[in-house]
Amino acid sequence: MGLISEETIQRVVEANDIVDVIGSYFPLKRAGTTFRALCPFHREKTPSFHVNPARQSFHCFGCNAGGGVLRFVMDYEHVDFPTAVRRMAARAGIPVLEDVGGDAGAGRDVRQRLLALHAEAAEWFHHRLIKSPEGGVARDYLKSRAITSAVAKSWQLGYAPDSWDALLNFLKERKFTSQEIGESGLSSKGDEENDSRAYSRFRHRLMFPIRNDYGEVIAFSGRVLVADAKAAKYVNSPETSLFTKGRVLYGLDKTKRDLIEKKAAIVCEGQIDLISAYEAGVRHVIAPQGTAFTADQARLLKRFVDTVLLCFDSDTAGQAAILRSLPALLSQGLSVKIITLPTGQDPDSLIRSQGAEAFLRTVESAQDFFDHALTASGSLESPTEKSRLVRTLGPLLALVQDATLREGVLGRLASRLGLPHSVIRSSMKPSKSSHDEESQETPVERLTLSAGMEILCHLALVDQDARDWLAEQESASAMEAGGELLDKILGAPFLDGQLSMAWLAALPAIEERAISALALHRTLPDALERAIVTWRGLKARKLTQMSEGLKSRLSQPGITAAEITKIQKQILDLKIQVADVQRPFSEGSAA
Ligand code: CTP
Ligand code: MN
Repeated sequence: MGLISEETIQRVVEANDIVDVIGSYFPLKRAGTTFRALCPFHREKTPSFHVNPARQSFHCFGCNAGGGVLRFVMDYEHVDFPTAVRRMAARAGIPVLEDVGGDAGAGRDVRQRLLALHAEAAEWFHHRLIKSPEGGVARDYLKSRAITSAVAKSWQLGYAPDSWDALLNFLKERKFTSQEIGESGLSSKGDEENDSRAYSRFRHRLMFPIRNDYGEVIAFSGRVLVADAKAAKYVNSPETSLFTKGRVLYGLDKTKRDLIEKKAAIVCEGQIDLISAYEAGVRHVIAPQGTAFTADQARLLKRFVDTVLLCFDSDTAGQAAILRSLPALLSQGLSVKIITLPTGQDPDSLIRSQGAEAFLRTVESAQDFFDHALTASGSLESPTEKSRLVRTLGPLLALVQDATLREGVLGRLASRLGLPHSVIRSSMKPSKSSHDEESQETPVERLTLSAGMEILCHLALVDQDARDWLAEQESASAMEAGGELLDKILGAPFLDGQLSMAWLAALPAIEERAISALALHRTLPDALERAIVTWRGLKARKLTQMSEGLKSRLSQPGITAAEITKIQKQILDLKIQVADVQRPFSEGSAA
């Protein structure tokens, strides 16, 4: 950290209103001067998640999550601080200038270069598709699949010309090095021993830029244009430092909001299905691009939805993909439904032939996975089939997070299969209690501060005079347990009266949460006086406690006369100090 300048961080924070940012993830309801929502960080039924526009902070009174806009992005998107800054910078169109010294700086630099390379390549492919004479074949292909040029534009579809080096020459002209082009995966190398010249990986293909959930192009997928038994139907970028296949969900950057609104995601197998559905108005869609769901993809999706509707091919490959996807999805607490399409259809072909309504009808009649498995099974009477179902479904049922749902499914399975509950139950691997809804919630640790210390921390955060005065007093940690937080606040960098976000984000989460909660408190009038009175109150309490401690020592057996005299002197000294801090406020403010 520290590679992005404090100045840039402040600019980024100022340019990203926390209500706008959080409101772009899920709807916020105005409640007086703050905004409210169900907390995204723990399960709850009534909203205790507050966003304060004046303070530019959020806080959940239920689970104690809290912080500024950057903390929200870090926690919600599961990204580190520099990534959160860069995302918010991109959102506001602020260039992030980073020191390039050191390995971390160099690593970020490489990433920026590769992103720039992908952006240029995407635009180049797109231009070939829309304008170039050689793109005619691809334009004809689009026509044959009823993809308009407006749609091609909006998804930045492209055409990779039938050339070994046209793209590479363009990228070199744009001052990308052979090494960078190699690392992007856009070039392949021939046989290393004989001819190791690099050539374009994608040739004569319809190109789909693959974006991360933030909309940056990080890879490509290219489809063949002419049926060719020898060529792979789709060629994808290899895994690179930007692209890990199992972490990306195609379309997510565009469909996020619809997912949040619908709380559900329709999962299509491929990108053309996704584009067709989206353009036909069914917008809560994503595509894992022909793979089974990975744990990473399930986690990513769980940020946006509760329910996943799998719309895989009805062939055996599709059904196998469903079974392989389930563990990841169920373990994330997602509820899984299965969409059954007419045989031989995929979403794209169904929409083209019978319209979006026909597709929507199949979506509405989606069945819970477990019920679907029973329906799809040939004969529930056959003992071998029963046994197969119990063995397949039991371990999956054990992954269902919600106890009520799990018991409901268990009951249905038992009655449909005509088996006692105990048989089903024993087929579930011993389900850990951590799968119960209640124990799911790990309450966030809280700092415990005395009421006085809370007030002092709050005042130190919001009032410069109070902060300055408190900074001149003795260390708060010497005064009482919990004073460390106040000491930290007093040592923190403030810019224009605002606490440094970078500093805040670098604190241990428990302290960061405490500070953002404190900043949310109602502002108290007469901050300086209140700080002085409160501080003196704490000081007097501390002195009195010390004095009590000494007094109890006086009555200890075997104490010598000299010790008694010494202690009495100390007690007297403390008494004077107490009187001093308890002087009425008007008599002066020095401690
Ligand atoms: N896929 C892939 N590599 C392949 C085949 C498929 O990556 N060799 C991925 C692609 O993302 C593709 C998805 O799996 O979109 C589904 O494959 P498939 O059903 O074969 O293709 P469709 O989506 O139906 O493509 P199209 O409609 O263009 O035929
Ligand atoms: Mn298809």
